[in-house]
Amino acid sequence: MSGDAPVGVFDSGVGGLSVLREIRARLPRESLLYVADSGHVPYGEKSPEYIRERCRRIADFLLGQGAKALVLACNTATAAAVAELRECHPGLPVVGMEPAVKPAAAATRTGTVGVLATTGTLKSARFAALLDRFAGDVRVVTQPCPGLVERIEAGELDGPQTRELLEGFVAPLLLEGCDTLILGCTHYPFIKPLLRRLVPESISLIDTGAAVARQLERLLQAGGLLAGGSVGARFWSSGEPAELERVLPLLWGEVAAVESLPV
Ligand code: SIN
Repeated sequence: MSGDAPVGVFDSGVGGLSVLREIRARLPRESLLYVADSGHVPYGEKSPEYIRERCRRIADFLLGQGAKALVLACNTATAAAVAELRECHPGLPVVGMEPAVKPAAAATRTGTVGVLATTGTLKSARFAALLDRFAGDVRVVTQPCPGLVERIEAGELDGPQTRELLEGFVAPLLLEGCDTLILGCTHYPFIKPLLRRLVPESISLIDTGAAVARQLERLLQAGGLLAGGSVGARFWSSGEPAELERVLPLLWGEVAAVESLPV
């Protein structure tokens, strides 16, 4: 596999673009392929079996496009499918997401940490293992956020409906005394400015996009797979390509053509 092959990144929809931005900032010489599974979003309330099947198909598609590494830029998909993808593709660098429990546990001063994520992520065995491993000394309060991904998919990052939903999710966490909030879904960094306005300045907001870009860099380096050449990004959507094209300038920062995902 050549270093100049692209990196394949995918998500249930547009959330993974928050991770793609971090990858582009960290690794500006890599070519990127991005799949938004928008015809099947949200993953958060779907069964692990359903999500695994979608991940299998998308991973095969990206590998068929020549991807040298995969990034599951979706917490829910990672919880359901990363172990299987690694098993099916030994030797392939596969990077997944996980809620930032370890840095949050280190950062909290009140000893209480809040996690905003999908139901799928919060119910997963992977999340339970993460708590066992890193949250022994802190209290973790979890908050599922049904409906939030849909608002972000629609590009409503600051509207009254998004604000009302978010206020309802955050208020119980503040009442519980959380001073550190984990954004446990790759869609949520897009509403960080709104969240910042809803919570006191003393509350820390933590997400893992930059850490994932660093981990990808480490794996590419270890495999001698870092690119030194051409750049660019190609986009596919299993939903309406025009919908993704509409929100790309806002969420990716550039106009780009989107192709229809054939799987
Ligand atoms: C979703 O599709 O429900 C959200 C994906 C994520 O957990 O990042």
